[in-house]
Amino acid sequence: MSDKYEVAVVIDQNRCSGCGLCIKICPSDTISLKNGKAHVTGESSLSCGHCMAICPESAISINSLDRNAIDFNTFDLNKKWLPYGTTDINELAQIIASRRSCRNFKSSAVERPLIEDLVRFGKLAPSGSNCQKWTFTCLTSREQVVHLAISIGSCYKKLNKMANNVFLRYALKAFGKPDLYNYYRDYYDKVNDAVHQMENNGRDLLFHGATACIIIGSEPGASCPGEDALLATQNILLTAHAMGIGTCLIGFAVKALVRDKSIQKRLGIPEQETVYSVIALGYPDEKYQRITGRKVVIERYL
Ligand SMILES: Cc1cc2nc3c(=O)[nH]c(=O)nc-3n(C[C@H](O)[C@H](O)[C@H](O)COP(=O)(O)O)c2cc1C
Repeated sequence: MSDKYEVAVVIDQNRCSGCGLCIKICPSDTISLKNGKAHVTGESSLSCGHCMAICPESAISINSLDRNAIDFNTFDLNKKWLPYGTTDINELAQIIASRRSCRNFKSSAVERPLIEDLVRFGKLAPSGSNCQKWTFTCLTSREQVVHLAISIGSCYKKLNKMANNVFLRYALKAFGKPDLYNYYRDYYDKVNDAVHQMENNGRDLLFHGATACIIIGSEPGASCPGEDALLATQNILLTAHAMGIGTCLIGFAVKALVRDKSIQKRLGIPEQETVYSVIALGYPDEKYQRITGRKVVIERYL
């Protein structure tokens, strides 16, 4: 059995009433009833904590859980579990619909305790097999964000130089590799302008003047690393809005980090990790009047 499924469930036999709720809720048959009490009998566990959460006698603990995972810096979390259907749906819906990509940030820095709390929200997301192999690399100052923007700018300058080669574009396309051709068509001018603006006017069209940034990646070995990282990302986007912080996903930065591993290395992110999202953060310098909608897309109800 690999370490990732190591059993860390501990059952206090003096407290256990033998109700069996932990057995019913366990997704990996880790627990069974012996002599009227719950015992750890399985050889693997997701360490998901469902048994611990459901036990009416508080008889179960999970040794592998981070004790500080739900202690936030900037507010006291009410640790009572919210029963299904008891949340104010209007407030939740308003947050989901009010979150917008922020492209106008104030110059004030986002405080470190707040960034740490956002990472905690990210880590509360679900992950495939509960592997939690995501990694969070935080840039906590505008200077660090600018440094990253400069590295990314250099990466795109090289890419634009390549894409400007008409022979190469068409040759790759003819060999079934249309990426460079498509990139030239869709982004070449935009990227040229962004690099020019950054170098000549100090205008930041990449990070929009963000004063902080969270880069979410994954260590090797996750079953669904991209999905895990993006679910953590969405938690951060929504909770940041509730905490007064604006966010913007920067897909251009992700592409550059994946393309040029030396940028990742300079950030101290080991080579074996893969980056899936880059979130620009800052205090928003924009205010909307209303919630708008979305495009019409395909929906199927079978
Ligand atoms: C995967 C992804 C990558 C994105 N990359 C960028 C980006 O590089 N720069 C940017 O300004 N916005 C970026 N965005 C923001 C989208 O343009 C934005 O989400 C979309 O226009 C909808 O607007 P809203 O987020 O305000 O609802 C990205 C969004 C996603 C989901």
